[in-house]
Amino acid sequence: METVFNSPNPILFGPGASKATGQKLKEFGCTKVMVVFDPGIKKAGIADKIVEAVKSAGLEVITFGDVQADPPDWSVEQAGNIAIAEKVDGVVGVGGGSSMDTAKGVKLLIANPPPLKQYFGRTGVVTKPSVPLIVIPTTAGTGSECTPGGTITNSELGIKTNISGVGCAVTLGIVDPELTASLPKYVTATTGLDAFCHCFESYTSAMANSISSVLGREGIRLVGKYLVRAYENGSDDMEAREGMQLAATLGGMAMSGAFCHLCHDIGRSLGAKFHVPHGHGCSVTVPQVLQVIAPAQPEKVKYIAECLGAQVPDGATGEEIGQIAYDAAHDLLKKVNLPGMASLGLKKEELLAQVPDEVVMQVEMEIKGFGGIAPPPMPVTKELIADIIVRAYDENNF
Ligand SMILES: [Fe+2]
Repeated sequence: METVFNSPNPILFGPGASKATGQKLKEFGCTKVMVVFDPGIKKAGIADKIVEAVKSAGLEVITFGDVQADPPDWSVEQAGNIAIAEKVDGVVGVGGGSSMDTAKGVKLLIANPPPLKQYFGRTGVVTKPSVPLIVIPTTAGTGSECTPGGTITNSELGIKTNISGVGCAVTLGIVDPELTASLPKYVTATTGLDAFCHCFESYTSAMANSISSVLGREGIRLVGKYLVRAYENGSDDMEAREGMQLAATLGGMAMSGAFCHLCHDIGRSLGAKFHVPHGHGCSVTVPQVLQVIAPAQPEKVKYIAECLGAQVPDGATGEEIGQIAYDAAHDLLKKVNLPGMASLGLKKEELLAQVPDEVVMQVEMEIKGFGGIAPPPMPVTKELIADIIVRAYDENNF
């Protein structure tokens, strides 16, 4: 089967790598850059470190420190207008997915006039090349440092959509595990599970290809080895932090062409309508999704279960593998204390009234957009999604 694999941008990876931010911008010919982050990154002292690294290379810096969660188009346009008025010739996004996606939007608007909404959509939107962009993740999760687009909230329709193309392409990702050393436990858990979802969903996708599968497999192995250690030991276990950063970057690459499926389809709906943070919304259904896809992808789910520490007997059926993977994933969520949907205040009836319809609609759009194929490895019905949600709601309470 023919699939698409987009080679990602260069990545500078390693402890302390973010200290080279200014030098790299200088090599790209930048003289005045905008550094984009949110108030939490400022409070953690990370924004100041990056600004200092840029200034020390002799560049002028302006900052946009008001990034919104799930960045709405108006907020990205606000930052873009400042960047245009200040005539910056480079952009740096430092933080989680929202900061990096806002920075991608700013880059796009510098060369492509507002409003941003005219560039929404996965395919067919042509954008012009723009100024250099460096993105620096401070969580080990999104993989946004190596994905060729960003997620933006369409404030008019209240849905998440995306921008893509050369206008917002990353020039260089800088992945510095030291920046994740002091991540709070909840953020370590939810972003780490987001990375796990990128790896296992793309690995089991009906659109997986041989390159994405290699990357996904290694990411899954790293999450199995390091997520609980990073969660439990924090800054005392930098080997685990580095392992999780590598898993997140590999997950970002693995998604390219193969895409994510059910956990992300459900998670996107939980985020847009119920304001559940992305990583949390994507990971609350992991055990049930692994169980449901196992009969379609028994060998791959067997590998995933083994990476999570399970023993799978030879000759196990798809259903048996699904049960073993379910138990292993359930145990993982428990170890990182992932709050269940009930404890988030979500009502089962409200979820069932919205999420199954939206997921089925999403899959139908994918089938149309990808010429008859979609990432989920088996047929998706409203009943299937409703069953996953009810079971996850009732069973994943820790
Ligand atoms: Fe994700």
